[in-house]
Amino acid sequence: MALWSGRFMENVSEFTQRFGASLPVDKALYAQDIAGSKAHAKMLATVGVISEDDAQQIAAGLDRVKADIESGDFMFDINDEDIHMSVEKALTAEIGDAGARLHTGRSRNDQVATDTRLYAKQRATDLMRANVALRHALIGQAEANFGVILPGYTHLQHAQPVLFSHHMLAYVWMLARDYRRLQAARDAADASPLGAAALAGTTYPLDRQMTAGELGFASVIPNSLDAVSDRDFLLDLDYACAVSCMHLSRLCEELVLWSTSEFGFIELSDAFSTGSSIMPQKKNPDFAELIRGKTGRVIGNLVSLLVTMKALPLAYNKDLQEDKYGAIDSAKTLEDCLQCAAGMIETMSIKPENMLKQAKLGHLAATDVADYLAKRGLPFRHAHEVVGHLVLLCEQRGCNLDDLSFDDFKAASPLFEEDIVKALDLPSIVAARTTEGGTGEAAVAQQMEKAKAVLAAD
Ligand code: ARG
Repeated sequence: MALWSGRFMENVSEFTQRFGASLPVDKALYAQDIAGSKAHAKMLATVGVISEDDAQQIAAGLDRVKADIESGDFMFDINDEDIHMSVEKALTAEIGDAGARLHTGRSRNDQVATDTRLYAKQRATDLMRANVALRHALIGQAEANFGVILPGYTHLQHAQPVLFSHHMLAYVWMLARDYRRLQAARDAADASPLGAAALAGTTYPLDRQMTAGELGFASVIPNSLDAVSDRDFLLDLDYACAVSCMHLSRLCEELVLWSTSEFGFIELSDAFSTGSSIMPQKKNPDFAELIRGKTGRVIGNLVSLLVTMKALPLAYNKDLQEDKYGAIDSAKTLEDCLQCAAGMIETMSIKPENMLKQAKLGHLAATDVADYLAKRGLPFRHAHEVVGHLVLLCEQRGCNLDDLSFDDFKAASPLFEEDIVKALDLPSIVAARTTEGGTGEAAVAQQMEKAKAVLAAD
């Protein structure tokens, strides 16, 4: 018999019982549910709605239910529909009438919103920790390989040489922003719906400030209708997870590319690679691919909840029960992806010779040769054209810019002098990018200090 079965003459079918149940998903919220119930019971006793004795029995009973769940002894029954009724039924079976008084002045509508907010706060905090660990790994690689040059790309075509450290730090900044998004999601969840009851508040003299304080919420949600039907905080968590996964997916796409024989920039450790069942030579970057693949699902979870919410009238509707699937999944998936990416980055070996070899191809010095002419008075647009012709000459001869003779340069423009060799030298090209945030060693060293300071404060 369901806890709400009083006005019913027939039981729902076994199929609909199962169809309507959220227990398989929301049992993950058992600790939050029990914490919420303890706070509610304590408050009910403080305002005199139940006796101190009842409150103590409820608290002790809930502790036993929690221990049972954690030991694996608890028998979950799908007929209980959700974690709220599972816990309440087990409690009442243990302590009798005191347990049956727990739900006074409360509805599952404010209960589920409370549990989910507590859960979202906890998970956002866990993810912030995992985010920090990955940033440490990226900064570790950036520091260990300071000075290594690789081709920078636009349109996946060779563009200008950049430091490998600069490239790693670009991901560190993405993750630093992800951290802020997770923090914002945690803050969005940090307000208490408890006491809103079903939708309108209750006739009992509930102290909402007290339960909010007991549960560590920063404030009380001011409107009971909004309190039970708002899921913005979960959308915020879904969004923070989706954006962070998208960043990891970009990183992993590069790891996949870089570990091909065409690039050969890195080798992933054996611990983060797999073999093929048929091709003995294969070493596949499966885990990088999986992170890229899982990102699709995490983005889907955000879209899914947005679509669920988009036409819901106030206040609680059962549609809202669908909110937790995606959020629980997104948090778990991002947590795993962050951990996997950190291990992959920490243990990969990089191949500076191959990076440099590629950086020498594709005329990466072209912009600097054009800048050379522009700094000697030729308008940049004309300089661009002169160097374009030199590149064409190289393409026709099948050589690189630094294979051209001084006479070739002089023929292209009388402004070229012997010191043009400096404009063709990759380390000098990199070092010359002294702009704040640029790829020159000095600028990257400064950037590294900033990234480390932000990380240390997080
Ligand atoms: N299992 C429900 C959920 O996850 C709990 C709230 C149900 N409330 C209700 N009146 N049916 O949303």
